[in-house]
Amino acid sequence: MNILILGGGGREHALAWAIAQNPKCDQLFCAPGNAGIAQVAECVAIDPEDGDAVVAFCADESISFVVVGPEAPLALGVADTLRSAGILTFGPSREAAQLEASKAFTKEICDACGADTAAYGHFTDAEAAKDYTRQQGAPIVIKADGLAAGKGVVVAMDMETALAAIDDMFGGTFGVAGAEVVIEEFMEGEEASFFVLSDGVNVLPMGTAQDHKRAFDGDKGPNTGGMGAYSPAPVMTKEITQKALNETIIPTIKEMAKRGTPFQGVLYAGFMIKDGRPRLVEYNVRFGDPECQALMIRLGAQVLDVLLDCAEGNLADARVNWADDHALSIVYAAVGYPGAYEKSTEIAGLDGLSSGSSLHVFHAGTAAKDGKTLATGGRVLAITARGNNLKQAQDSAYKAIEKIDWPEGFYRKDIGWRAL
Ligand code: AMP
Ligand code: GLY
Repeated sequence: MNILILGGGGREHALAWAIAQNPKCDQLFCAPGNAGIAQVAECVAIDPEDGDAVVAFCADESISFVVVGPEAPLALGVADTLRSAGILTFGPSREAAQLEASKAFTKEICDACGADTAAYGHFTDAEAAKDYTRQQGAPIVIKADGLAAGKGVVVAMDMETALAAIDDMFGGTFGVAGAEVVIEEFMEGEEASFFVLSDGVNVLPMGTAQDHKRAFDGDKGPNTGGMGAYSPAPVMTKEITQKALNETIIPTIKEMAKRGTPFQGVLYAGFMIKDGRPRLVEYNVRFGDPECQALMIRLGAQVLDVLLDCAEGNLADARVNWADDHALSIVYAAVGYPGAYEKSTEIAGLDGLSSGSSLHVFHAGTAAKDGKTLATGGRVLAITARGNNLKQAQDSAYKAIEKIDWPEGFYRKDIGWRAL
């Protein structure tokens, strides 16, 4: 079958790399893709947020399966447009994507299904939000309701920061995303992510991971989209994983189905774990980046089978074959990221790197020009390795990244520290 992946980051490169290995995949396309993805798929200049353009491309190229990578097209209803056109699609509907696109919606679902999460208030007005915040006291968490590219959350350790964040959000710092604000109880513990496929009824766990959100070593510096990740997450023990599944994920899936808006795709749940209790921090409706890179190198070609089962409503009998392995992914970012950074700098040393099922350099923000690889984004590469244990995966990823020559880039030297 011919397959199209929407997106052009490291997550989509990892998906493309895994899917291309499956014999069911004939031609693989990616819109818009990047220089790394171009090695395994044909990149096409289509806007993934333009549903009609995507449908037209699918008709032209006889595409029978579309995998939607990022949240933005999902929140806009691109998966609905594709399914209405009769195209098998992996990814939730616009309504089900509210689980990521609206924090207030997720809290309401948690209330309705009894999922364990932080207590909260939901506000459309700054004064009421401030009154509630003063009553609750700091530390407290202030969140813009809508999609804010990972920047709409302020964990306020004191009242002054909390009140300033409320003013910022209602003042328009996050545009419409901040027109409504959710204020949450501060939860302590260790964070981990859990990835679960659902066809709307059945669920299939796809693995756990932990990422490093801060830019610099020792979890210091500004928040980023993620500077590295590893899978599995040791804190997600069998018991905690089962508890998260039974008490949060499955009730959420049932509640979405009950409302007539079943969730079909990957539910990426962030949990705060303390004293054996996993409490939901947030949902995303797509794979994490760079968590996806660590998951895909572990799963390989079987990913296509389970994504197809998911989209076809056949997850009841689907299985994931797990090797007892570990993976770790290091993000190579442009100096200055997550702030301003230089573009079109040259990356050398990539050709000498072996790439295979135990080591792969996934591209996030690259372009090819005159035989050179240029950096075009903030997060540029994700060097991902697999090993029999986490230390082995870490050693192998760091050994590889040292061979890359990119003076305008930086990476953290301590990915995986918490688990080692
Ligand atoms: P979110 O975008 O909701 O994942 O929030 C970003 C980050 O803020 C999370 O990964 C947590 O580290 C932190 N965070 C969010 N909500 C809470 C909470 N209620 N208590 C403590 N930390 C939180
Ligand atoms: N690595 C965090 C995310 O993908 O949202």
